[in-house]
Amino acid sequence: MTALGVGILGLGNVGAGTVRLLGERRERIEARLGVAPTIRRILVRDRERERAVEVAPELLTTDIDEVLGDPEIAIVVELMGGVEPARSYILAALRAGKHVVTANKAVLAERGAEIFAEAARVGRAVVFEGSVAGGIPLLRSLREGLASDRITGLCGIVNGTSNYILDAMTRTGAGFADALAGAQAAGYAEADPSLDVGGGDAAHKLALLALVAFGVQVDPGTIATEGISHVTAFDIRAAAELGFVIKSLAIGQRDEHGVGLRVHPTLVPRDHVLAGVQGAFNAVLVQSDALGPSLYYGRGAGMMPTAVAVVSDILEVARDILAGLYSRPGPSGHVPSTTSKPVSLRPLAEVVCA
Ligand code: HSE
Repeated sequence: MTALGVGILGLGNVGAGTVRLLGERRERIEARLGVAPTIRRILVRDRERERAVEVAPELLTTDIDEVLGDPEIAIVVELMGGVEPARSYILAALRAGKHVVTANKAVLAERGAEIFAEAARVGRAVVFEGSVAGGIPLLRSLREGLASDRITGLCGIVNGTSNYILDAMTRTGAGFADALAGAQAAGYAEADPSLDVGGGDAAHKLALLALVAFGVQVDPGTIATEGISHVTAFDIRAAAELGFVIKSLAIGQRDEHGVGLRVHPTLVPRDHVLAGVQGAFNAVLVQSDALGPSLYYGRGAGMMPTAVAVVSDILEVARDILAGLYSRPGPSGHVPSTTSKPVSLRPLAEVVCA
């Protein structure tokens, strides 16, 4: 029988949501695939810690080799976050013949070239819907839904914490520090929120969007990035008087000269579709040649929204394993293909969100 075991690395919020959703949807998954992926091991730092989900204690391990050495595990789900040891574990999983599902934008944005090259070499999948815009099926829409089109630009709110802060400043007149404290109290911003409010998290996500939408591999450090910590209550009021709201946008544009990418606070006309995105929601407006504009909106973070993306990725890989895709030679179709031409990063000639 085909091995459809799952090994999960990390049992934080998203890990707990993934365990819960796989359990709750088991019957539906079985009806759809004929067999449901089964969790065989979960790598944790501390086996005794209290969890947001009930798990059989014998599933927990602190030894990565128990996950990678299990021949019944076909899919490794990396939910640890950060670059190391996530990168080393992903590479080791691929070398052990496992497919990888991850929601970790940092490791893919920073070390994606190495990871995708290894996946292509060993003929295994790396799928990462949960890494950008949480539960919104955005990467899948760009990869599959718009496969027949040519994406020319995208423009979006991809950091929920920054949007929550700017939205609170707009609605209440609060200053940045108070709005940030509110976001932290509501559980959105990290205790150290610098990646969120400094724009780094959005730059990581934009690098992955550029990979899927434009087929270019970009070092996120080369993306022009400006955070929101210098935006004042006065800026928000002045923008409002002129008919604008301030949103932190991730913007990507492709033309015959190359690809332009940037993240920064932007004046958005009050009646624009992105102006109405409230709280920690995400929204990405995509422009493509044949379809024109299309909008992807929803919860971009959190336990269950991100778990939706992760479990859907597990099901996608499981379906392809069952269909025999990986027993045939040749590319799997689940490693992003990138251009062999060097990327020309350049300033945007015009904003693509209009
Ligand atoms: N810190 C991120 C955000 C979490 O606020 O959007 C989801 O990637």
